Amino acid sequence: MINKKQKIIIANWKMNPVDLVEAENLIKTVRRGIKKSDDRKVIICPPSIYLSKIKTNSHFDLGIQNIFWEDKGAYTGEVSVLMAKNLDVKYAIVGHSERRLYMKETNEMINAKIVSTLKNNLKVVLCIGESLAEKNKDRASEIIERQIREALKNIKKSQISNLIIAYEPIWAIGTGQTPSQDEVMSMSLFLKKIITNLYDRKTAENLDILYGGSVNSQNALDFVDSTGMNGLLVGGASLNASEFVRIVNLFG
Ligand code: PGA
Repeated sequence: MINKKQKIIIANWKMNPVDLVEAENLIKTVRRGIKKSDDRKVIICPPSIYLSKIKTNSHFDLGIQNIFWEDKGAYTGEVSVLMAKNLDVKYAIVGHSERRLYMKETNEMINAKIVSTLKNNLKVVLCIGESLAEKNKDRASEIIERQIREALKNIKKSQISNLIIAYEPIWAIGTGQTPSQDEVMSMSLFLKKIITNLYDRKTAENLDILYGGSVNSQNALDFVDSTGMNGLLVGGASLNASEFVRIVNLFG
């Protein structure tokens, strides 16, 4: 399957680095290293407290790792879409498995975040994926279908152009274990089938679906193109500037 769409490479720094100077050095090296190319888009998602310090340029856009569903008000510790947009943020990651696990985020909460983010014209990166126990019990498809259906409740077809789905098997995140290319391809087809059923084939065809989980410069190419995936969500390897630059430059 040859995929001619612009590839999307997202860096998810998670709760790293702990030092602003280190964050600025990381972004400086990335900015210097990545070539300008229309073949792919790069999105950097630093901790939200650094967002105001990181200036975007034509080489990359900014994303936020999490977002709240209300625009403003008495929600201690939360950050709204309106605030993120003020800082030139273009994307919000929603539903990452670490938030589902540690912050007990449910599909219903994730849906509220998606509704608010799309309503306020920010793009959403929806993370979905199965745990090892679910995979071993052959329940991956069922879990993933539920994650998508519940997350996209009341989302209109016209809004799907502002959505990216990142398939991240939980057992592959930060473990060095990855699914086979066949498994990744089956999943991209399955995701397109779900979107076709919820909306239509054209919407599914145009949707960007990414792979995430233990991506590095050695395996990055394996997960894209031939699998039907249109890019990558990179965690650990995005904290090493030269490794992340290598990954990005593989795609143009
Ligand atoms: P990883 O993380 O690349 O370190 O496995 C990916 C992610 O959680 O987004």
